[in-house]
Amino acid sequence: MKVAVLAGGRSSEHDVSLASGAAVRAGLKEAGHEALEVGLARDGTWWWDGAEVELYAGRGLLGADVAFPVLHGPFGEDGTVQGLLELLDVPYVGSGVLASALCLDKAVSKEVFARAGLPQVAHEPVTAAGWSADPDGVLAQVGGLGLPVFVKPARMGSSVGIARVDGAGELAGALQGAFAHDHLVVVEAASDGLEVECSVLGHAHDATASPPGEIVLPGREDGRWYDFEAKYTAGGMELRVPAGIADRVADRVRALAVQGFARAGCAGLARVDFFVEEDGRVLLNEVNTMPGFTPTSVYAKLWAAGGLAYPALCDRLVALAVERFGAERAPAS
Ligand SMILES: Nc1ncnc2c1ncn2[C@@H]1O[C@H](COP(=O)(O)OP(=O)(O)O)[C@@H](O)[C@H]1O
Ligand SMILES: [Mg+2]
Repeated sequence: MKVAVLAGGRSSEHDVSLASGAAVRAGLKEAGHEALEVGLARDGTWWWDGAEVELYAGRGLLGADVAFPVLHGPFGEDGTVQGLLELLDVPYVGSGVLASALCLDKAVSKEVFARAGLPQVAHEPVTAAGWSADPDGVLAQVGGLGLPVFVKPARMGSSVGIARVDGAGELAGALQGAFAHDHLVVVEAASDGLEVECSVLGHAHDATASPPGEIVLPGREDGRWYDFEAKYTAGGMELRVPAGIADRVADRVRALAVQGFARAGCAGLARVDFFVEEDGRVLLNEVNTMPGFTPTSVYAKLWAAGGLAYPALCDRLVALAVERFGAERAPAS
């Protein structure tokens, strides 16, 4: 098949996306597909073969059978590009408009997952307007979470704008820092559990979960967390597969990963991230609808451990996209 691989994009994860995109093109070629390199510049323009791409509603994308948006963060992983691809009438890899937008929003997704009974850390949403109108009220609201807390912009990624707050005096600064990225912020009780991640593949209600892996951080006992540096510095983290958790806890992680995927209405792929507390309790942290996607990224490594090689993974995702498009666009009978 002819696959338009979209990479780059307007978010702070532009370069990460370029690396994932190059890997996906190589994986698709190895699986026997043709891959078009469509570059989304930081200014939002789309490029292919040295020329700006012309997009017309209902007219497809460069004659491709499928699009593979390997884009992370806002303007790529958040439903915007997915909506554009819907209007172009191109099948595309990954989640649709609603699931993409939902999962990129840590505040709203937490409400949806809570309603579904999925276990999470205690959390409070805070808006910039609420903070400027009544800072004391907000401090009282988040005070109930205790300390330490994590303060996060609702719609970001790669740990950008996130702060860990150990003392009440640091809270105002952390909120201001997060508001620089998003007017909606989540404050969460800190978990001191292990960070465990699980890859999910399939259709929303027919998905399978990989063996879970554990993110091992040097210096974690000194309060280090999985920040931007740990994510993107060589040696900043180590993935342990299988995770150092009991089999029954790993089963629980996989079951919750599939449940979270289904509840959000995800499609194709997602990496679902958890905290596993010392007593074995499993808490859902977040669902990433387009996780880092090179062969050495966590998503692919967990599938490699589950017996699925990178080219086969790319091939399967393309097939899922075509199946989903066929099912959703079929006239109602
Ligand atoms: N409630 C929490 N308890 C403990 N650590 C947390 C918590 N929330 C976030 N972290 C740390 O911050 C990292 C990034 O947070 P996350 O919510 O996954 O945002 P991102 O979308 O940027 O990956 C996590 O991998 C973890 O190390
Ligand atoms: Mg994360």
